Amino acid sequence: MQTGNFVEGKVVLVTGAGGGIGREFALALGREGARVIVNDLGASVTGEGRDVSRAQAVVDEIVAAGGTATANGDSVSDWDGANRMVTQAVDTYGRIDAVINNAGILRDRFFFNMSVDEWRAVIDVHLNGPFYISRAAAPHFKAQQSGSYVHMVSTSGLIGNFGQANYSAAKLGLTALSKSIAMDMAKFNVRSNCISPFAWSRMIDGMPTETEEQKARVARLQRMETSKIAPLAVYLCSDDAKDVSGQIFAVRANEIFLMSQIRPLRAMHTAEGWTPQTVAERVMPAMKPSFYKLDRSQDVFDWDPV
Ligand code: NAI
Repeated sequence: MQTGNFVEGKVVLVTGAGGGIGREFALALGREGARVIVNDLGASVTGEGRDVSRAQAVVDEIVAAGGTATANGDSVSDWDGANRMVTQAVDTYGRIDAVINNAGILRDRFFFNMSVDEWRAVIDVHLNGPFYISRAAAPHFKAQQSGSYVHMVSTSGLIGNFGQANYSAAKLGLTALSKSIAMDMAKFNVRSNCISPFAWSRMIDGMPTETEEQKARVARLQRMETSKIAPLAVYLCSDDAKDVSGQIFAVRANEIFLMSQIRPLRAMHTAEGWTPQTVAERVMPAMKPSFYKLDRSQDVFDWDPV
C-alpha cells in the first residue's frame, strides 16, 4: 500500500488487531501516521484462551516501522474491558478519533443443533462488543464533535450462509447498529460505516475442501489477501471521508462495492382490506416472481475476485 499521512496524528482503536484483517488495519494506520491502540484478546478462532502477546507483536511491528502504537488485551464482549480500551487511548494519546470494530469469532453449527452458548458467544463478540466499544467512545466523539466508526460485517448476514445463524444475525444486527449510530450522532459530525470483507484468514481456513467445488472455492478465497481491506478502512477513519456515513461497503481483493440497503420491493393495496383468501389469490401470485432465492454469498458474488 502506498504510504502517506492520511490519518496523521489520529488516535485509532482497532479491535481484534492481533492477526488477520485487523492486523493489516493496524499496520496500515501506523504507516499512515495514526497512533494505534492494538486490541486483541489473543483468543482461538472459537473465542477460547487469552494471549496479549499477539497484540504486542503487532505493536512491535508498527514501532519497528517508525509508527506509534500500544497494545490492549481486553475482551470486546466485556463492558468494563471496552471502557478500558477507550480510556487507554485517551490516557496514552490524549484523544480518540476512530474505532474499528473488527474482533471476531466463529461458532458455526446448523441452526437446529446450535446451543445457547454458541449463540450467546457469537452475539457477545459481534454485536454486544461493537455496542460496548462504540458506546464507550461516544462521549469523547460527542465532546470533540468528530469521530468515525468502522464496523466489520459479513455477507453471511447481508446475503446468507449455511450454519451461521448466530454470526449472520449478529452481523446484520451490527449493520443496523451502524446505521443507528450514524443517524443519532450525525449532529456531532460523527460517522459510522460498515465494511463487509472477503479475505483469506484463519477465520475461513477451516472451510471444507472435500468436493471439487469446495476445493475450487477455497483456492479462489486464498487470492483475497487480508491487506486489501485496509485502504478503505484507513480512508473511512480520515477527515477526507467527512461526507461518508451510514453506508455498507464490501471489499474483495481489488474490488470495492457499495452494498444496497433494504427498501420496499413490490407493493399492493386494496380498498376493502385483505383477507387470507385475497392474500392467497392476489398478493402471492403477483409477488412470487420477485421473491428472493435462498442465496448464499457465493451465489451473488459468483465471479472470481479481481
Ligand atoms: P481473525 O480470526 O484472523 O481475527 C479476529 C481477531 O479477533 C483474532 O485475532 C482474535 O483473537 C480477536 N478476538 C476474538 N474475540 C475477541 C474479543 N472478545 N476481544 C478482542 N479480540 C478478540 O479473523 P478475520 O478474518 O481477520 O476477521 C476480522 C473481522 O472481519 C471479523 O469481524 C470477521 O467476522 C469479519 N469478516 C471476515 C471475513 C473474511 O473473509 N475473513 C468475511 C466477513 C467478515
